[in-house]
Amino acid sequence: MKPFSKPIYITRPLMPPLHKFTAKLRQIWKSKWLSNNGIQLQTLEKKIQRVLKVPHISLFNNGTIALLTAIKSLNLKGEVITTPFTFPATPNCLTWCNITPVFCDIDSVTMNIDPAKIEKNINKKTTGILAVHVFGSPCDVPTIQKIAERNSLKVVYDAAHGFEIEINNIGIGNFGDISMFSFHPTKLFHTGEGGALTCKDKILKKKIDLLRNFGIKNEEEVLLPGINGKMNELISAFGHVLLPLVKAEQKRRKRISELYKRYIDNIPGVTYQKDIPMVKTNYQYFVIRINSRIFGRSRNDVYNIFRTYNIYARKYFFPLCSQYPYYKHLPSSNPKNLPNAHRIADEVLALPFYGQLSISEAEKIISLLKSLGK
Ligand SMILES: Cc1ncc(COP(=O)(O)O)c(C=O)c1O
Repeated sequence: MKPFSKPIYITRPLMPPLHKFTAKLRQIWKSKWLSNNGIQLQTLEKKIQRVLKVPHISLFNNGTIALLTAIKSLNLKGEVITTPFTFPATPNCLTWCNITPVFCDIDSVTMNIDPAKIEKNINKKTTGILAVHVFGSPCDVPTIQKIAERNSLKVVYDAAHGFEIEINNIGIGNFGDISMFSFHPTKLFHTGEGGALTCKDKILKKKIDLLRNFGIKNEEEVLLPGINGKMNELISAFGHVLLPLVKAEQKRRKRISELYKRYIDNIPGVTYQKDIPMVKTNYQYFVIRINSRIFGRSRNDVYNIFRTYNIYARKYFFPLCSQYPYYKHLPSSNPKNLPNAHRIADEVLALPFYGQLSISEAEKIISLLKSLGK
């Protein structure tokens, strides 16, 4: 097989037709209203609230600032239990709030925080659980909720990958105290940069909105030490024109995912995330796991060989957050406490997955994978 003549990246952002965006921009030019709770933001919030089926939503300039705001709004402090198998933003937001992340091992199948291992990490300093719906696959939300109630802890979900995920027709943003969504260009729905917080509590929503805007209540009252987390009008306008395209993008990705799965079902040593009953998937990522003993080559081998074919797969998530130089000294970072996380971080590979990837390109990628096995 010949290498691809152009690089095949892990993802390509969904782009709206330029004329639709410029039409929106014309409205903004006329209004001369560029930020601070403008009409584009207000109307986009309503639309996304409906799509995510959540009672309250606040849009942000990115997911990381949204997550920081969630942590502040719940007054988390001391220690918060989280997963090492995530993007740096998850534990780093805790650190920015002077909170020590406590890394808990993950489930060997779902790759999400293992609820059975949460409680042994709880002590007097613990104030919350920050769990991640990894690759859009939901955490065990009922069990996490029970643990939180039993121990008077708050729950924040990093749902950066979770756009439109539902459990039993309930939007994923309804679980825990607050959920954070990312609208980074690598995400299914995106706004260039952007994010959101969702919650059920009206009073908490008010606090989130205050914190998002420096804590300013009105011209003469500043009530909280807030930050600038506002999504501006230009970005909100982009969201308006992109949102209607998500369904078609998902359809295209579904075809690719079906093709990948068909091949992988016949590749010993390679597995993918199985659909979970009653969970609506979103086709955010396509992540495989490579068992080197059965497959005959390691994940790193495949990653490196793919490169020679101009295919840019991604070791996602590798390394674990607990291996970062500034976290590895933590007692909870001891690899002995995190056996599943360590094994999985060495097995995972995110394959190129986006609507513009043609079926023949996808077929070439997955045939190459098959040819590399025993
Ligand atoms: C799991 C996870 N959490 C948080 C973030 C940060 O979101 P953002 O890039 O919107 O700040 C990301 C990344 O994009 C992510 O993948």
